[in-house]
Amino acid sequence: MTQATAIIVGASSQLGRELVTQLTAEGTRLGLLVPDPAAMAEFIAALDTSAQENILLGALPITEPDAAAQAIEAMWQQLGGAHLVLVNTGLNSYHPDLPWQIESDIIKVNVQGFALICNTAFRLLREQGYGQLAAINSIAGLRGGPAVAYHASKAFAQNYLEGLSMHAQRLKLPITITDLQLGLLDKAAMQQSQLWLAPLHKVAAQILRALKKGKRRAYITRRWALVAWLTRLLPEYIYNTRHWKKKGKH
Ligand SMILES: NC(=O)c1ccc[n+]([C@@H]2O[C@H](COP(=O)([O-])OP(=O)(O)OC[C@H]3O[C@@H](n4cnc5c(N)ncnc54)[C@H](OP(=O)(O)O)[C@@H]3O)[C@@H](O)[C@H]2O)c1
Repeated sequence: MTQATAIIVGASSQLGRELVTQLTAEGTRLGLLVPDPAAMAEFIAALDTSAQENILLGALPITEPDAAAQAIEAMWQQLGGAHLVLVNTGLNSYHPDLPWQIESDIIKVNVQGFALICNTAFRLLREQGYGQLAAINSIAGLRGGPAVAYHASKAFAQNYLEGLSMHAQRLKLPITITDLQLGLLDKAAMQQSQLWLAPLHKVAAQILRALKKGKRRAYITRRWALVAWLTRLLPEYIYNTRHWKKKGKH
C-alpha cells in the first residue's frame, strides 16, 4: 500500500504540532515547513522514532515569494509529491488605532503569503494530476471585524480556495480543495470563555476527519457551523454592536 504523504505549511503552532502528532501516529510521511526549523527540534525529538523517521523539515520565508515558492517545491521533490498540502500559516493582531504596520504584516502573511503557498501547491498538484489542498481558515472571514485586516484576509482566503476549487473542476482533475473554517479560539479568546474551547486533540481529529472525507468546507469544531450561520444572518447594526461594544472601552 502507498504511504500517505502530506506537506504542512506553518506546522509550528500548537495546533500544527497536534496535527503532526496525529498524522505521524497514522504513519503519514510529512514535510513540515516553518519559519524557524530549529524551534521544532525539541518537539520532534519527543516523538517516537518511527514518527521522527517520517518527518522532513524545512524553512519557509513566507514574506519572500520566490524563496517561499522554492521552499515548497524543494519539499515536494524531497517527499516525491504529496497527497495533501495543508496550509496552517496565519498572523493575527489587534490594536484599536489600527497602525498600518500591523495591517501590512497581516496582509503580507495572510494574503500575499497565503496566495503564494496555495498557488504553488495547486500548480504542483495539477502537474501530479491529483491530491488535496486544504487550509485552516477562520469564520472571522464571514464578516468584517475589529481586527480589520485579519477578518478581510480570511475572506480573501475563503474566496481564493473557492476559485481554486472551480479551477480544478474546470480542469477535470481529481484535486480536492478544503476550507477548514476554524472558530474556537477567535470567540473564546475575545470573550475569555472556556465554553467554546475544544481540546486541541479534538480540533485536530475533526480537521483530519474532514480532510479524509474530502469536504469542500468544514466548520471546526462542528458547533461553529451554527455561529457561522448566525453571523451571516445578523443585520449589520446588531452585528456591529456585538463586536464594537467591547473594543470601544479602549
Ligand atoms: N488560534 C486561533 O484563535 C484561530 C482561530 C481561528 C482560525 N485560526 C487560523 O488557523 C490557522 C492556524 O492558527 P494557529 O493558532 O494554529 O497558529 P498561528 O499562531 O496563527 O500560526 C500558524 C503558523 O503560521 C506561522 N506564521 C505566523 N506568522 C508568520 C510569518 N510572519 N512568517 C512565517 N510563518 C508565520 C506560525 O509560525 P510560528 O509558530 O513560528 O510563529 C505557525 O507555524 C491560522 O490561519 C489562523 O489564522 C486561528
